[in-house]
Amino acid sequence: MENALKITKVESYIISLMDKLPILSYYANSRGWSFLISWGHRLAGLTLVGYMFAHIYTLSLLFSPAAFDADMKLLHNFVFSFLEWCVAIPVIFHSLNGGRLILYELFHVRAEEIVIRFMIILGLIYIFIVGFFFIEEIQQISATLFWSITVTVSLIACVIILFKIWVTDNSILWKLQRITGAFMFPMLIGHMFFMHMNYLTGHDSKTILERIQSPFIKGMDLVFIVLLLFHAGYGLFSIIADYIKPGLLLKSLTFLIIIVMAISAFFGIRIVVAL
Ligand code: HEM
Repeated sequence: MENALKITKVESYIISLMDKLPILSYYANSRGWSFLISWGHRLAGLTLVGYMFAHIYTLSLLFSPAAFDADMKLLHNFVFSFLEWCVAIPVIFHSLNGGRLILYELFHVRAEEIVIRFMIILGLIYIFIVGFFFIEEIQQISATLFWSITVTVSLIACVIILFKIWVTDNSILWKLQRITGAFMFPMLIGHMFFMHMNYLTGHDSKTILERIQSPFIKGMDLVFIVLLLFHAGYGLFSIIADYIKPGLLLKSLTFLIIIVMAISAFFGIRIVVAL
């Protein structure tokens, strides 16, 4: 028989604080916490889509390194650094919750409450470690070593999910959503981490341009862009398909998503190839 999870004092204190927020407590009591978590996943996914477009725009400034450095200088203040750090929250929440969903769908891991507890603890540890690097800006690691390790872990995750998922009856696009999610899991967490271990790594045009000359980094970035845009595009499609009945409107919006993602892919690929 399964033992019920014991709620610690810290957790019951946090739940009591969240219960004081009318919207959260209303939905938590009427629809359950899993409903709120799936909404959190959706909102985090949408926030990341918005951030992704802004990110492609900022990177396009690298064609004029002086403009890029001026932009970064402008944004290097407490408010923007704080907002940039805040992006770690949807990144880690969506990644860990996405990983949890994949575990649940493919491996039928039913110890949901325990997984959610670990997800929250790991998420908080990650957010504060990223915050530490934001403040310290002193760490160094070779790009090739860091990304070789991360890509290897991503490929292992991808292969495990690929074998497990291929035999299921789900649509090919659904399967690709999980496979791209598994690939991005280590990559995206690593990306955020790596870019902030040293401020110059992600904010100085000379450092970025030097790094991107490596064929390994170029190839990795290209694969990442394609998988990311597919995942984001299919994610947007699955959200609208939840609210709009099949018909002309759904078809038109799907077409619009494909166009926007294709244009973004074009700009993203151009940046990586041409720089
Ligand atoms: C880091 C690794 C990631 C993992 C493991 C992951 C995993 C997942 C999974 C499993 C789903 C399906 C959820 C469902 O059908 O209920 C999903 C949906 C989605 N993802 Fe991701 N994802 C990741 C990164 C991203 C990124 C970077 C973006 C945006 C740029 C993104 C945007 C979305 C969107 C918009 C949805 C649809 C949300 C929904 O239907 O509720 N994801 N993700």
